Amino acid sequence: MQDMKPEDLASDNYQDTSLKYFDGSERRILYTEIETEFPDGCLIVSRTDLEGNITHVNKSFVVMSGFEEDELIGQPHCILRHPEMPPAAFSDLWKTVSSQKKWHGYVKNLRKDGGFYWVYATVIPNIRNGEIISYTSVRRKPSAKKVAECIELYPTLF
Ligand SMILES: Cc1cc2nc3c(=O)[nH]c(=O)nc-3n(C[C@H](O)[C@H](O)[C@H](O)COP(=O)(O)O)c2cc1C
Repeated sequence: MQDMKPEDLASDNYQDTSLKYFDGSERRILYTEIETEFPDGCLIVSRTDLEGNITHVNKSFVVMSGFEEDELIGQPHCILRHPEMPPAAFSDLWKTVSSQKKWHGYVKNLRKDGGFYWVYATVIPNIRNGEIISYTSVRRKPSAKKVAECIELYPTLF
């Protein structure tokens, strides 16, 4: 994954940090306070392989993330990881889905332009003959009340 670049951002008013990923790689992250509201009735859908690399996205994924489809396919899902998301949420996600169960949670995702959008995500392991062959994630509009609770809770989980 490439470092984020100031010229891709929607605003000059951003914070500059870096994130370290599960594979040990690091990336410069630039993020702003600009929220993209989740539209009513919209569903963001993606599929990943067993390593978490994106293999399929729908149109809403492209619109909400600000990336082009060909910038997403083949990339790890952590391309959307926001620095304010506690790592414990993702360890719980991977622990749950790799034991063949569904995971639900509220996620603050990072856009290509440094902005963010909150989702309520359901991650489903796709199982054939008792083996996981891929994962599907469906994101819905989150309730404002739950997002407000996460804004209080997540900083305490670091
Ligand atoms: C199907 C699926 C969907 C995922 N969707 C997201 C997502 O929307 N945003 C996100 O930050 N991580 C998502 N993840 C988790 C990432 O794979 C990754 O664990 C997370 O971004 C944290 O990065 P790290 O594991 O490199 O620390 C998803 C994982 C799976 C299996």
